Amino acid sequence: MAEEHPKTSELPEDVETDDCMTSYTYIYSPDLLKDKVAIITGGGSGIGFRIAEVFMRHGCDIVIGSRNLERLTEASKKLIAATGRRCLAVAVDVRQPETISAAVEETLKEFGRIDILINNAAGNFLCPATSLSFNAFKTVIEIDTMGTFNASKVVYERWFKDHGGSIVNISATLGYKGQALQVHAGSAKAANDAMTRHLAVEWGPSGVRVNTLAPGPISGTEGYRRLGGLSAETSGVFQTIPLQRAGNKTEMAHGVLFLASRASSYVTGACLVADGGSWLTSANNLTALLDYWSAGLKRDK
Ligand code: HXC
Ligand code: NAP
Repeated sequence: MAEEHPKTSELPEDVETDDCMTSYTYIYSPDLLKDKVAIITGGGSGIGFRIAEVFMRHGCDIVIGSRNLERLTEASKKLIAATGRRCLAVAVDVRQPETISAAVEETLKEFGRIDILINNAAGNFLCPATSLSFNAFKTVIEIDTMGTFNASKVVYERWFKDHGGSIVNISATLGYKGQALQVHAGSAKAANDAMTRHLAVEWGPSGVRVNTLAPGPISGTEGYRRLGGLSAETSGVFQTIPLQRAGNKTEMAHGVLFLASRASSYVTGACLVADGGSWLTSANNLTALLDYWSAGLKRDK
């Protein structure tokens, strides 16, 4: 068994499943988001769920929105029980602006304000470009890129334009060196990174900050499972990452908390890469990823 990394004792708590943490050590002031209201797309699972939990632990009320209302409702019950804050679950498909508008109206009716929007909803899978259908590429662009634009525009026009606010887009580092089997998600996230800068410029005068957090491989998530994180973990691939491990969801939530809150009041148009230095050193091995992908296809048959 590998020796425990000396610094792992300093990592924030996390649990692998979509459950709340059994203990939590504050790094920021516990009232950093007191009585703020945040909308988190895709907040019922993975990184979005942990962002919701950490925000609520800092005094925020939350709206989580995605397609699967049953899972969202379950998630909101867990979040309320663990934090004592309010959490509203609403059905949203970020590809359909009218569902976002309805969620925004529901948020304003319930909470009377919106301070933060986290664009976290995304769809992804490994697939080489030649096997990717036109519709598959379009689907990922529609969820990741258009979904981020749709939610940002609806929230800005309905509330942020007159009250200010903070938007954090959850990106990825896939596009930085053309990650194999990821042309769809890498292209979508690269567009989002540009969108962060464009909207920061246009909406700054209204008191709106727009920033990005770009995670690396984060354990206990659907993205990790789909993109081969478990296999990378067992085969020692993470030793090539400067920090020699995958990240955890709470680490991502802390980065987002920084960007969303007054802790970063003079930061806009920025991208915080939170990947342990992964993109700088990790292999971009087309042959190995093709093997991994085709083995998965055989398994799924
Ligand atoms: C190739 C695929 C595919 C796959 C779907 N498609 N899955 N193609 N490989 N594994 C194709 C379908 O055949 C179809 O094309 C088109 O994509 C749309 O598929 P639908 O199932 O109709 O789409 P939809 O129901 O809208 O679902 C969207 C989805 C799905 C993205 C395909 O997987 C989803 O809902 N994902 C949400 C959860 C998720 O992906 N979480 C991980 C995020 S992680 P045709 O031509 O047949 O019509 C992440 C990590 C980033 O983003 C970075 C990590 C390092
Ligand atoms: P996840 O749990 O699958 O999160 C994605 C969320 O998006 C789900 O809750 C899903 O909920 C929602 N969603 C998908 N399509 C949607 C749509 N059309 N409308 C509304 N909501 C939709 O995966 P995750 O790994 O935690 O990923 C979270 C974010 O981190 C994503 O932006 C991802 O790209 C990014 N990221 C993750 C990793 C990683 O290692 N996990 C690395 C880099 C970046 P429904 O199914 O209910 O709609």
